Amino acid sequence: MFCILALFLYILILHLMPKITYIDQKGNSKTIEVDNGLTVMEGAIQNNVPGIDADCGGSMACATCHVYVEDSWFNKLPKAEEAEQDMIDMAYKPNKSSRLSCQIIVSDEINGLIVTTPEKQT
Ligand code: FES
Repeated sequence: MFCILALFLYILILHLMPKITYIDQKGNSKTIEVDNGLTVMEGAIQNNVPGIDADCGGSMACATCHVYVEDSWFNKLPKAEEAEQDMIDMAYKPNKSSRLSCQIIVSDEINGLIVTTPEKQT
């Protein structure tokens, strides 16, 4: 009985994990379930998503985790802090939808988030 309950809870937890879609410049996409509390960058690294290197490990010192957030999602995210914006300014081809994926915390509120990696990171 306990095993069935544990299995049910495991399946339930899997279904509740937010899904993040990563798209590269060639249009290849990968949708991954990422634990709440991780960053979008950590979800990519743990699942071998190409195009997000995260050389600094998430300390906002490299911009190799730069992504373009789909327009419909951009304003739903907390705004970038000044330090993040400064690093984005040094990233490859930043635009108005640029964010550092190491600064986007995964939560139920961003279930379905879509990000695209810059061409140079592909
Ligand atoms: S991992 Fe280096 S700035 Fe995000």
